[in-house]
Amino acid sequence: MAKSEKKKSRYVIGVDIGGTGIKGGIVDLKKGKLLGDRVRIDTPRPATPENVAEVVAEIVGALGAREDAPEPDSPVGVTFPGIIQHGVSRSAANVDKSWLDFDIDTLFTQRLGRPVEVINDADAAGLAEVRYGAGKGVDGTVLVITLGTGIGSAFVFDGRLVPNAELGHLEIDGFDAETKASAVARERDGLSWEEYSVLLQRYFSHVEFLFSPELFIVGGGISKRADEYLPRLKLRTPIVPAELKNEAGIVGAALQVAIHHSLAE
Ligand code: BGC
Repeated sequence: MAKSEKKKSRYVIGVDIGGTGIKGGIVDLKKGKLLGDRVRIDTPRPATPENVAEVVAEIVGALGAREDAPEPDSPVGVTFPGIIQHGVSRSAANVDKSWLDFDIDTLFTQRLGRPVEVINDADAAGLAEVRYGAGKGVDGTVLVITLGTGIGSAFVFDGRLVPNAELGHLEIDGFDAETKASAVARERDGLSWEEYSVLLQRYFSHVEFLFSPELFIVGGGISKRADEYLPRLKLRTPIVPAELKNEAGIVGAALQVAIHHSLAE
């Protein structure tokens, strides 16, 4: 393979579908960083599969027109905030209900005219953190918990993802955990950091008891304010903020493609 070709094959497009914005970028898999700026478009309303597919196509089109873009028929990684099994969404907790049991892979592959790999959003963030960020080099169980609209989770063991862990839906004190302890629930309920930390303590202690991880990594927008709540938590497991911030989903989506296509070694 020529040097420039080899370099290009380590570039993969990743797209992160969120509740407010859809973001994409060309990822340099050697560095785990975006090549150039990311492209962001507001999530359409209603956020039905067809409307979202249009926006994803627009983003991939814009990225594909760049000089450093990977080959036009190369696979694209896409995150989705729900359970993903064989390209089909199996839950729709915080998204339009038309996504339930929807074959995202088929729709997006047709719309983009190139292969697509769909992955749960927290799984993508987790993969990225373990490969390039706060979990780099950590053996054993690493749990990445994202605090956002919901609570997402990635279960990684010895660097390999166990997909769709869905630990945000653990029932704690009679409630689905994410309905009380997500970042959006904190805002909705007007909780101080101190009050919120009590809920997080309850949540992380329970998860720690169930899985005895080596490390917790906390992601989501709220990880920027980690100083407000992480020091208040008393756990035997180290707990640290995510390092890739709001690029983790894009990077992880691209990384997932590379893992499936053996590009990232
Ligand atoms: C969904 C997860 C998702 C998380 C974060 C939860 O409600 O069930 O699949 O990863 O929200 O978006």
